[in-house]
Amino acid sequence: MLSTFWQVWIMAIVFGSMAGCGVLIVYSMRGHRKEETTQTTGHEYDGIEEYDNPLPRWWVYMFWATIVFGFGYVGLYGLGNFDGFLTVKVDGEPVTWTSTNQWKAEVQAYDEKLAPLFDGYLATPVAELAKNEEALQTGQRLFKSNCSVCHGTSAMGAQGFPNLTDHDWLYGGSPEKIKETIMYGRQGAMPAWQAVLGDEGVIEMAEYVRSLSGLPHDAEAAEKAAPAFAQNCSVCHGADGKGNQLVGAPNLTDDIWLYGGSTKQIQFTLRNGRAGKMPAQKEILGEDKVHVLAAYIYSLSQN
Ligand code: HEC
Ligand code: HEC
Repeated sequence: MLSTFWQVWIMAIVFGSMAGCGVLIVYSMRGHRKEETTQTTGHEYDGIEEYDNPLPRWWVYMFWATIVFGFGYVGLYGLGNFDGFLTVKVDGEPVTWTSTNQWKAEVQAYDEKLAPLFDGYLATPVAELAKNEEALQTGQRLFKSNCSVCHGTSAMGAQGFPNLTDHDWLYGGSPEKIKETIMYGRQGAMPAWQAVLGDEGVIEMAEYVRSLSGLPHDAEAAEKAAPAFAQNCSVCHGADGKGNQLVGAPNLTDDIWLYGGSTKQIQFTLRNGRAGKMPAQKEILGEDKVHVLAAYIYSLSQN
């Protein structure tokens, strides 16, 4: 809603310009001859002279026509807080035209057109749908517009955003688990350990974590941290460090890193904790689109 000031402001500008155009036409026609003539205006530029003829009729009418068009336009589309006469159909009801309503109407018309197609996809199990070329292309388009901001256009991820093309899953790579992740979202919760382990403890634990993946590490420091790992970390990451998909605790033994495997990054993770969030898509995209996306994601890790 515009405030009264801005409403008056735009009305003054719109109707003022229209009236101004009218006045300009009338004014420039006044006192001019009506008939064609061979008399010149008397000016000469580089030997070129100008007949003192009136503006062609059609030309003048065109100016009047733009003013009439302007009123027609305002009547149809409205101005500021005043609705026009034009309507579009949203939720089956005619509502006044606004750019938002037109957008809604177009999205609904598109969804309606595609509904039978998506219904067919929804009735097909994810694993089977992952072999349907057409569905995968739709899935890829949905992925590019809804997921690539975080997971990257090719779904390879980035720091804090998992790679979806590999065989390493935080929450599970079965069709059901992938669909569940996309539908309801996920919230990773890695606690901060600075207070529990202390500076020295964090440094040693980082060495232990690196040893799990077989990365170069200080063996003595790692050994010191082993009991603390069993006590504090194995609940979530497992006694062998292989992770737990029920809580999204990553496998620490595979040298695939969500936040980075350098000593510095691991120490940062241990000191401050991590809380990656995958946003739920059920309300945003609806189950039918999520289903197609699940098939697309599943297909990526099948090669
Ligand atoms: C705002 C950023 C963001 C967007 C948008 C997003 N994701 Fe995610 N996604 C994440 C994060 C972060 C995680 C990891 C969660 C964690 O750390 O526990 C994740 C995890 C996942 C996982 C689980 C991976 C695994 O290893 O188990 C899947 C599958 C997934 N996303 C698919 C999608 C799809 C499909 C879309 C598009 C509809 C999407 N994501 C949109 C941030 C995002
Ligand atoms: C309450 C369960 C829980 C406990 C206890 C826990 N973690 Fe985690 N850890 C997680 C989760 C969940 C993540 C993933 C966080 C995310 O997705 O944002 C994670 C992530 C990590 C990462 C990052 C892995 C990567 O790929 O970048 C490391 C390293 C790690 N934990 C080590 C440890 C160590 C060492 C301990 C013990 C001192 C520990 N964790 C205790 C749940 C836990």
